[in-house]
Amino acid sequence: MAAWVLSHIPILLCLILIIPQSEETRSIRRTECHGRWIHIRSLPPRFNTELLESCNAFPLMDEPLCPYAANHGLGPRTHNRSRSWYRTDPRLLEPLIHRRLLEHPCLTPDPLLADAIYLPYYASLDALPFLYSPPLFNSSALHALPLHHHLLSNQPHVYSRRHGHDHFLVLAGPAWDFSQAPDADPVLWGTSFLSRSEFFNLTVLALESRPSPWQEHAIPHPTSFHPATLARLDAWLARARRSRRNTLMLFAGGGGGGGANIRGSIRAECENRTDLCQMVDCSDGVCSHDPIRFMRPMLRSSFCLQPPGDTPTRRSTFDGILAGCIPVFFEEISARKQYGWHLPEDQYEDFSVYIPKEDVVFGGVRITEVLAAIPEADVRTMRERVLELAPGVMYRRHGSSAGLRSIKDAVDLAIDGVLRRIRRKVRPLGSPELITVDDEEDAAG
Ligand SMILES: *[C@@H]1O[C@H](CO)[C@@H](O)[C@H](O)[C@H]1NC(C)=O
Ligand SMILES: *[C@@H]1O[C@H](CO)[C@@H](O)[C@H](O)[C@H]1NC(C)=O
Ligand SMILES: *[C@@H]1O[C@H](CO)[C@@H](O)[C@H](O)[C@H]1NC(C)=O
Ligand SMILES: *[C@@H]1O[C@H](CO)[C@@H](O)[C@H](O)[C@H]1NC(C)=O
Repeated sequence: MAAWVLSHIPILLCLILIIPQSEETRSIRRTECHGRWIHIRSLPPRFNTELLESCNAFPLMDEPLCPYAANHGLGPRTHNRSRSWYRTDPRLLEPLIHRRLLEHPCLTPDPLLADAIYLPYYASLDALPFLYSPPLFNSSALHALPLHHHLLSNQPHVYSRRHGHDHFLVLAGPAWDFSQAPDADPVLWGTSFLSRSEFFNLTVLALESRPSPWQEHAIPHPTSFHPATLARLDAWLARARRSRRNTLMLFAGGGGGGGANIRGSIRAECENRTDLCQMVDCSDGVCSHDPIRFMRPMLRSSFCLQPPGDTPTRRSTFDGILAGCIPVFFEEISARKQYGWHLPEDQYEDFSVYIPKEDVVFGGVRITEVLAAIPEADVRTMRERVLELAPGVMYRRHGSSAGLRSIKDAVDLAIDGVLRRIRRKVRPLGSPELITVDDEEDAAG
């Protein structure tokens, strides 16, 4: 079903582009779109739609992928009658954003007029054979090389005009999974996509960046909430705003079984202080497609604990923000050093609490005591700020109303960030200066 719709994307795109326009609307568009033109590269289906068709081809994968490809990557609705809630799987972020980019108001069919060129390559889906087919485990350095060859051999002037510095794509995973040295022996985990010089010039939107990011920039993990109208967004935010919060803090997650670690400390403290702390057991991935399990408790808690897991960032951070549950971080790399385009790095004190994990695990600091000591008025102000930030981390549904489209969501902010970054990279034209993420944030806004 999803594959069918995706295979018709070129037709949808043509329909969008042939809508006749008056000279006046064309000139308004030229003004609004100045510096914002995006060209979507047309790629052979082996780089996108065919990858979706093999979503069930990997028996070693913990969980099948196919059911979540519905609705252009939003996943199936949670219930037949639900309008805004879906069983969204972050692994399908690539088709989800592809569908959204087809609605970008400033698309151009001419790559030479574009400020940025989007490659609708489903990079993480194309990595699955290297991760889940044993005969290919040792070949993971080859991930994405066919894309590189395609760009060099097919209309090569499009890529070479700016050496790829104006190209971007989405990678639905943490950068760590794609950063293996190409000559690693033995091969451990992941592919070498981000470690190969062939791809250094691209801009890659990933769910989590490395501590010293190079070509990637982190964008929010998708949640299950994808409203299509402003009324539905406002209704949800109003509910979160007036929700009675009887619990001081919530931890929704798994782990923390053995050894001295932050999850273990949280678990111990929570079990000890059931009057102040609630736990939602998400072991074995039971929560990942079932937002009801954690959204209700998040609406009833003032603070949501966001400790690192296998990797530093968590989807739960964004679920909590939507629920108006103030995030508590234990590492700077869990969010502050990641999501500068979506959650302003210099405002964390206004909407979150930071407690270094060492203080909790080894220093005897009690999280409940730190949080209970924050004056109620400050808690209210922080929660209001969290809810102001919420629309910017949500992924609205494709085909949303004009009212909702007038508010920047996670994709809009990511596109703004990409365009800023590319503008800096290709300036002065012809001799792009390579930059890292750290020195570009001053351009935000
Ligand atoms: C949802 O609707 C479909 C078809 O209309 C039906 O087969 C299915 O049983 C419904 N599911 C629920 C949970 O009501
Ligand atoms: C992969 O390489 C390792 C050595 O680095 C070797 O032991 C293993 O058998 C190889 N696996 C396959 C499937 O070729
Ligand atoms: C990356 O850009 C530099 C110029 O900044 C260029 O010399 C180099 O060939 C490019 N690499 C690739 C793989 O396109
Ligand atoms: C549990 O509570 C008791 C008494 O309130 C306290 O002495 C103990 O240190 C607490 N343990 C943890 C892990 O918080």
